[in-house]
Amino acid sequence: MKIDIITLFPDMFKGPFDMSMVWKAKDRGLVEINLRDLREFGLGPRRQVDDVPYGGGPGMVLKPEPVFAAVEAAKRENPSAKVIILTPSGNPYDQTQAEQFATQESLILICGHYEGFDERIASLADYQISIGDYILTGGELAAMVVVDSIVRLLPGVLGSDDSAIDETFTSGMLEYPHYTRPEEFRGMAVPDVLLSGHHGEIQRWRKDQAKIKTKKQRPDLLK
Ligand code: ADE
Repeated sequence: MKIDIITLFPDMFKGPFDMSMVWKAKDRGLVEINLRDLREFGLGPRRQVDDVPYGGGPGMVLKPEPVFAAVEAAKRENPSAKVIILTPSGNPYDQTQAEQFATQESLILICGHYEGFDERIASLADYQISIGDYILTGGELAAMVVVDSIVRLLPGVLGSDDSAIDETFTSGMLEYPHYTRPEEFRGMAVPDVLLSGHHGEIQRWRKDQAKIKTKKQRPDLLK
């Protein structure tokens, strides 16, 4: 998979993308991530990327020309790429959307910034995505969340191919509780059934626990 990220702050991605799963996926050639500095597409000698809003109001608005130029440059390399804008007014992001993105050959992510972007930029987007009902200072952190959630679903990234199957949200419920050694820790014991070696009973217990946990923490998922 190829992922282009259009951002005013490419350096923000250095830490998160050079560690852990995303690094592993890049190292194995399973994903290629290309950071495009929006400033390079800015206008004039000062490489202007934003301007005051028509009609007045606070803050600066991302101009259309640099963003169109950056997306067009990315599309020249990957013409079939789907374009995603990260914005708090986008559709709520979830695991189903991550699974759908993970099937794409290439993606272009646009990180918004400042007060917002010129509405004409929305015409570039196949998807407008929000990672939650709160306002970040820019789309960069949201893009990292989206990329991380996609990359771990790519075949060959997780240790074993089935580790993404049983987990939270994939089944429409939260995942069952996990335990590892020691058998007892500060008075808290591992449930007996997990030590029983009885596969059928363990499966049943896990299913029940997932339901109990979901009902308690996320009753909205059961509706
Ligand atoms: N940019 C700023 N806030 C955001 C959010 N919640 N989701 C996606 N992009 C954003």
